[in-house]
Order: sequence, then C-alpha cells, then structure tokens
Amino acid sequence: MHLRSKPWASDWLAEHSDIVIDQDRATAQIGQWQSLFDQEQPIYLEIGSGKGQFILGMALAHPEINYIGMEIQETAIAIAARKSFDQVGTLPNLRYIYGNGNGVETYFEKGEVSKVYLNFSDPWPKKRHESRRLTYKSFLKSYEAVLPEHGEVEFKTDNRHLFEYSMVSFMDYGMRWTPEDYTLDLHADEDKVQGNIETEYEQKFMAKGQPIYKIKAHF
Ligand SMILES: C[S@@+](CC[C@H](N)C(=O)[O-])C[C@H]1O[C@@H](n2cnc3c(N)ncnc32)[C@H](O)[C@@H]1O
Repeated sequence: MHLRSKPWASDWLAEHSDIVIDQDRATAQIGQWQSLFDQEQPIYLEIGSGKGQFILGMALAHPEINYIGMEIQETAIAIAARKSFDQVGTLPNLRYIYGNGNGVETYFEKGEVSKVYLNFSDPWPKKRHESRRLTYKSFLKSYEAVLPEHGEVEFKTDNRHLFEYSMVSFMDYGMRWTPEDYTLDLHADEDKVQGNIETEYEQKFMAKGQPIYKIKAHF
C-alpha cells in the first residue's frame, strides 16, 4: 500500500508527539515504554498498522492491554493517529511509532512487548524482495529479541503465497504452532473468528469473497 503524501501530515505528527513517537524517540524510550501509558500492563505491537483501524479497535475493546501501532509510511501513521484522535481523543492505552519493524529491537528490550501482530503485510512476491517480507528471518529475529521466551506472532493475510511462505519461514526459524493455532478461512470458523477485529485490508478482501488465513506462531 502506498499512500499519496498529505501536506498536513508532518506538522500534525510534530504537534502530537505525545501520541506518535518517531524513530529517534523510540530508540531513547527503550525499557521505558510503560511510562507512556496510564496503566502498567502488557504491550501488544502491530507492525505495518496502515490506517490503524485494527489497533484502534483493539485498544477500545481491550483497555487491559497497552497497544502500539508501528508504521513505516508517514502518511499512513498520520492518518491512523489523526483518525483515532479525532474520534476518541488520546486513549490511555494506545500509542504509535513512526518507524521500521526491521530493527524493532533498537526500540524495545527483551520481553517489553508481549505480542506481535502482522496484518496483511505487503507480499513482496518477487524472490529478490524476499528480505522485505515481514515474516523473513531477519524480521523474526527482531521480533524474538523483544518478545518474552516462547512469545507469539499473530499473522493474518489474504495472500496464500505469503501465508505458505510465512509458515515455512516460521518453521525454519524453529517457531511452533498447533492445529488449533491456524485457519485457512478465518471467517468460516465460528470459534476462531470470536473477538476478531477486522483491518481495512481484511474488509476489502472479504468483500471480494476471499478467505482470510490466520496463524499464531510461537518462538
Ligand atoms: C498492505 S498494508 C496493510 C495495512 C493494515 N495492516 C491492514 O491490514 O489494513 C501493509 C502496511 O505495512 C507497512 N509496512 C511495510 N513494511 C513495513 C516495515 N518494515 N515496518 C513498518 N511498517 C511496514 C506499509 O507501509 C503498509 O502500510
């Protein structure tokens, strides 16, 4: 997803640096993320949060969890943060990072993040772009470095090739899951769809009748 740049984005981000943390501040925040939230409680991180529908929905549904949406595109993070700010003001359990998921270990220390979400990550179908996929081994290494032992990565996609690639990548990395931890058609599975918060892309692909794949893999 590439969004056309918005002229208001960088000024808005500068004015709302309490909600959206840039890369430099994120690096300085290592080990101290809880201080940005009202309550000390587990932090769940979404990497590639796009326009932010999922992370906002999760933060509203689960006040007992602190959420961070991370995005590499300035326009996307600005749209996400502004939309949530305009709708509900500053939520006590939601913050954003304008940054790159590759290198997340420079922002968080081991165990500081309790769970990582990847939703409809860019598929990068060409082999020569494999290292840009958010489930490539170098990204997994970064996630492992910030999660507790046996920490969990929860991944949803419409893209069968990326799903299969990711399962192999998780397995090669030594990650594990049980049959209960994945589905090839989330919205046809009454149990697994319970509490599901839909992302923008999820709604787009569901409208086209495409199945949504989901897996929870553990280190
Ligand atoms: C296809 S969009 C999906 C957006 C949203 N998660 C959804 O499901 O609607 C993928 C998003 O991941 C972001 N992204 C790609 N690589 C990233 C990286 N290395 N770090 C952080 N965000 C990244 C892109 O900028 C894009 O906004």
